[in-house]
Amino acid sequence: MTGKGSPCYDVNLMDKVNFPVLITNFKTYESATGIEALKLAKIHESVAAEFGVNFAVCPQVVDIWMVASEVQIPVFAHHFDAVTHGQFTGHILPEALKMAGADGSLLNHAEKRIPFQQIAESIKRAREVGFFTLVCARDIEEAQKIAELKPDAVAIEPPELIGGDISVSTASPDIIKKAVEVIKGIPVIVGAGVKTGEDIKIALKLGAKGVLVASGVTKAKDPRKVLVDFAKALSSCPA
Ligand code: G3P
Repeated sequence: MTGKGSPCYDVNLMDKVNFPVLITNFKTYESATGIEALKLAKIHESVAAEFGVNFAVCPQVVDIWMVASEVQIPVFAHHFDAVTHGQFTGHILPEALKMAGADGSLLNHAEKRIPFQQIAESIKRAREVGFFTLVCARDIEEAQKIAELKPDAVAIEPPELIGGDISVSTASPDIIKKAVEVIKGIPVIVGAGVKTGEDIKIALKLGAKGVLVASGVTKAKDPRKVLVDFAKALSSCPA
């Protein structure tokens, strides 16, 4: 085992997520499932090391152990539940994710939305476990409400741009600017439709601390080439 995954769970061992960061959400894309998830995570790791930038990956929960066992970059889950050890069949226990090597999790992604109360309870549970929470919001209003719960980072992704070819940086630079203005003391990450280094540069110049991407990488013919473009953009905009 060469990565972070370890059967030993220690509540004090919270890996640091550094900024600016590019987080690739593997969703359930075939190109990012099972062994392909591992290959893609390794490409992220090697490009991140080559350019000295912060990349993180977000594979499916079932792939976390394998991926986290083999790479050193931060690994996020798509989601977890605010449950504890016990009678919670079918739920995702944050302690189990951490034992599998995850450093944190997305919450409330546009494709896995949860009620506000559940977000609050999940953030509380994550704190107990020492788990990084990146909570997603559809718009500024929701992001502000979520920010009051003090997650480790807030991600804004306009749902209508997710999976498309027009990026949040091009279509909605104002939402990035405004989010950075109103959300104080919590890193703002943005995503949706990001395909190029230029998209990343715009987001970071407007004050975002990172970018969430999926199809730009998972559907790319040559993901390494895309990641190199992203890495150059990240390295030109230090935190
Ligand atoms: O979580 C990232 C995501 O929703 C953005 O997806 O395909 O627009 O980069 P995509």
